[in-house]
Amino acid sequence: MRVEGLRGRLAEEGVVRLDTARGPYVARLAGGRPVVHGALCPHRGGPLEDAYLVEGMLICSWHRSTFRAGDGRAVYGPACADLDVVPARFDGDDLVVEWPEGPSGA
Ligand code: FES
Repeated sequence: MRVEGLRGRLAEEGVVRLDTARGPYVARLAGGRPVVHGALCPHRGGPLEDAYLVEGMLICSWHRSTFRAGDGRAVYGPACADLDVVPARFDGDDLVVEWPEGPSGA
């Protein structure tokens, strides 16, 4: 999936919601690199657009579940499932999301 012009928008806004055929996701910058992850916390569905990004960790604002931004691994808090993190890169000013192959399509 390619999102045109998202690099500049992320630089301005920091966090952008992506409504995709696979559901809602969030794009954000982490150390200047794009991170794309599920929009809802695996714990109780907290909105991860509001998550804090601290030293490479995403912290849910509701109950503080903490996930590694690089791979979504749950490392602290009540979440018992990892966060879906999708490989993404910039191509010029565009964001390219590299969905894994699978039955969910899109
Ligand atoms: S909803 Fe995110 S930690 Fe509870």
